[in-house]
Formats: sequence, structure tokens, C-alpha cells
Amino acid sequence: MLFQPPLPPVYGSLDASQLSARIAERKRQLGKRLVILGHHYQQDEVIAFADFTGDSLKLSQLAAAQKDAEFVVFCGVHFMAESADILTDERVVVVLPDLAAGCSMADMAAIEQLEDAWSQIADVVREPVVPITYVNSSAAVKAFCGGHDGACCTSSNARTVLEWALNGRTPDAPGDRRKVMFLPDQHLGRNTANALGWPLDSMVVWDPREELGGLTPEQICAATFILWKGHCSVHQLFTAKQADAIRAASPGTKILVHPECDWSVVQKADLVGSTEFIIKTLEAAPAGSKWAVGTEVHLVNRLANRFRGEKDIRLLSSIQCLCTTMYRIDLKHLCWVLDNLVEGRVVNQIRVDPETRRLARIALDRMLWLKAQPLVPVTCVD
Ligand code: 13P
Ligand code: SF4
Repeated sequence: MLFQPPLPPVYGSLDASQLSARIAERKRQLGKRLVILGHHYQQDEVIAFADFTGDSLKLSQLAAAQKDAEFVVFCGVHFMAESADILTDERVVVVLPDLAAGCSMADMAAIEQLEDAWSQIADVVREPVVPITYVNSSAAVKAFCGGHDGACCTSSNARTVLEWALNGRTPDAPGDRRKVMFLPDQHLGRNTANALGWPLDSMVVWDPREELGGLTPEQICAATFILWKGHCSVHQLFTAKQADAIRAASPGTKILVHPECDWSVVQKADLVGSTEFIIKTLEAAPAGSKWAVGTEVHLVNRLANRFRGEKDIRLLSSIQCLCTTMYRIDLKHLCWVLDNLVEGRVVNQIRVDPETRRLARIALDRMLWLKAQPLVPVTCVD
């Protein structure tokens, strides 16, 4: 995680309405020079200032589409701002309002660990291994995948990307016996491969802290999927027991979860998909329907408030599943970066070095291209 220096004391003395008024004025002053992108997990008061909101895939597409803006202020986490920097023209300045807004999942796959894993696996297997990284990863990990004929994916298009990586290989047709290394989220990898019909015993989990990932050469050779031992600390708080308890207490409640949840939770779910998919599903849901949603609490609360009295929407867990790093982006930090931009100073710029950028761009461009294929959300019915 990067270090965020404390803000000047004046920001602590302004209340929410003063900060909001100042941000609105800064946006007016910067006009078309500024675009604010906001991920769905941001706080309501921050999302109110976003020009565009989206899940990781939509925000990547929006970043790539910015041709006129000088500044993209990314209200999200570090890997998203890095992707935006890679996908925008060199002249576009990408700013993350709080440098400490990282992602614990992305931190679970260091580039040195990936390079080490790759050379150990190469000693053991003879088939091609395609590295696929969830976009929740560092630019260096993305660059590694881009440089080794792999790609990035998001929770929206993981299925399409895995199909591409398998190059026609299905559970019933061995094809050229290629393997996929999926990182850093073992759950998205497992849930997506399983939704494509691959049994759980076609997957092994690579623990980067163990020699040979904690596996035997035979286990690696037999597997089709090598899943990195990483997870989201927020989504791992949802359990299958919670789904059972809600169904027993409130029959008819539909369970809708993000694919970063554990496989056992996904098996209990009626629908599984990205944050954008979750929003669209609840928008389309009939009046009177009941939903328990397994994703970050700010998004679930926003949807519950939006449809209050019409649809019954609640968090799947009874404990608050908060992404503490997304939460670091607040009005104070947003106001501070905009104040500086208006005064001609850039603070908290996220800049990826040219070589990493070049290779990571290959992986990200494949991700964006593969979105053009028909998307079938990962959907499991109990
Ligand atoms: P999506 O918004 O792409 O579904 O991702 C969720 C997430 O955890 C982002 O960090
Ligand atoms: Fe990372 Fe999970 Fe937070 Fe998303 S919700 S930014 S995966 S820790």
C-alpha cells in the first residue's frame, strides 16, 4: 500500500456540505478538462460527484474513451487508476484522491511471486500455460500476462476470457491440453471455470508462499486450472450458512452474489455477477421481490434505499461487509485533489512506467476486445 501524507488541516475543519459546495465549484471551474470516474463501492456522497459510474470493465472502457479530458480523477482503488493510466493517452493525467486506497487482493500477487511460480511451473509441465489475471492486480502482474500471451479479465467477462484462453478446449474435448493460470482471485477463477462445466478436481490452488505452490508435480500436471491462492477480504465474509438462514426465515428471497464469493456461496445463489450486473438485475426485478445481496455494503445500501418500499433488498451477511480501502476516498480527499488541479498543481498522479504500460496494455486491450463477445453472466440456480 502506498503512503498518503496527511491533508492540510483546513480540510478537517470543513463539514460535508462545505466540502460538497467546494467540490461542485471546482468541477465547474475545471469544466470539460476534468472527468470523475466512480466505482459502485464508493460512498454516496462521493458517487454524487462522479461523471460516470461503473464496474471495473465499464470504468476501463470509460477511461479508454476519454479523448478530451486533461484529468481523470478516479474514485476507486489503486489498480483501477493504474488501468486508467495505461488505457488513456499519455497526456491524460490520472489522479487517485487517496494513495492508500489499495486492494488487499491485488497485494496477494506480487510480481516476484508470479515470476517465481511461472519458472517453477515451466520446470514441471510441457503444455502451454496461459496466464489470466483478474484486473484486480498490479500493473506489473498485468504486464507479465500481456508479455506471456495472456490477458486480463473482470468479473463481467471472466467467462469469455477463460473460453478464449482455453482455445476451444472444453471438459469433454481435451483440445491441445493447454492450462490456465488464474490470479489473484481463486474464487473468481473457480466459480467461472466451474460455470463453464469444469469439475472442481480439474483445479489446483497455488500457494505462493510454498515451494511448488504446495503441490506435487503430478497434481500440477493433472490440473487444467492453476488458481492463485488469493481472495477478496470483503467477499470472503459471505457464507453458505447465511444464504440458508435467509431462505429459511424469508422464503422466496432471491440470493444475488458477486463471483468473488466462495464457491459454496455461489452454489446457493440464484444469480451471480459483477456490480453492474447486480444493479441491472435489481433494477429489472419486479415490485414486491425480495433480495439478499452478497457484495460490498455501500452498493447494497444504495440499492436498498433507492428501491425502499418497492423491493426488499438487504445484505446477505448480518455483519457490515465494508471495503475499507474504497472507503478511504472521501469528500476531503476529493476536494483536496480538485483544489490543487484548479491551482495548477497535480497531486497523487498515478503513472505506470512506459515498458510496464506497453505490456500491460496488451493484456488490457485483450480484455476490452473480448468483452465484444456475447457475455453470459456466471449464473447458478439452487
Ligand atoms: P466489479 O465492480 O468489476 O464487479 O468488481 C468488484 C470489485 O471488487 C472491485 O474491486
Ligand atoms: Fe479489493 Fe475486495 Fe475491496 Fe474490491 S472489494 S477493492 S477486491 S478488497
